[in-house]
Amino acid sequence: MRATQDPVAVEIRHRAESLPDLAALAAVLPGCTACPELVATRHCVVVGATPAGARLLLMGEAPGAQEDLTGQPFVGRSGQLLDRLLADVGIDRSAVAILNTVKCRPPANRPPTAVESRRCRGWTERQLDLIDPAVVVPLGLSATRWFLGPTTLSAARGRVHEVQGRRVLPTYHPSAALRWGPGGEPERLLRADLAEALRLAA
Ligand code: URA
Repeated sequence: MRATQDPVAVEIRHRAESLPDLAALAAVLPGCTACPELVATRHCVVVGATPAGARLLLMGEAPGAQEDLTGQPFVGRSGQLLDRLLADVGIDRSAVAILNTVKCRPPANRPPTAVESRRCRGWTERQLDLIDPAVVVPLGLSATRWFLGPTTLSAARGRVHEVQGRRVLPTYHPSAALRWGPGGEPERLLRADLAEALRLAA
């Protein structure tokens, strides 16, 4: 089903576009009831980190267990690795915007469904427009496809894509770096891509 044929997705998009700023979005998002299974199982809607004036935005897929409990993006094991890699390349995490394509944790860490992804897109696109970062880094395949459509990470990573006037630099998800272990290729390339994103955003 296309987004324009899903009345819930259409309503969310209209609602999101009517909201004037990030504070208004953050006030409304916790009341979202668009995805029944996520609403029934979530503890928190993870709105994301949206510091004023962020030039760099990291996009994950969806919150995990720790994020669902705390309401903050990337605070579990992936987040801890991300923190280390950001520090390695001299990025101040508190100045970086961090969103997820879907804002509620899918149960048992399953991937978000196409319906969930479509419905949350209106919220996430409005956040992106309001933050208006110079550079966006999708973390992992799912966030990369959210921007680019069907692709593979090996085809998309390692170059800058222009998406609706925005520079998009796809890279590995920190969970891939955790799976491969310290010093593995995903960790090395993720660190290098974060450094490149910092350079591009300067
Ligand atoms: N993985 C994600 O994609 N996002 C989070 O916030 C945490 C883990």
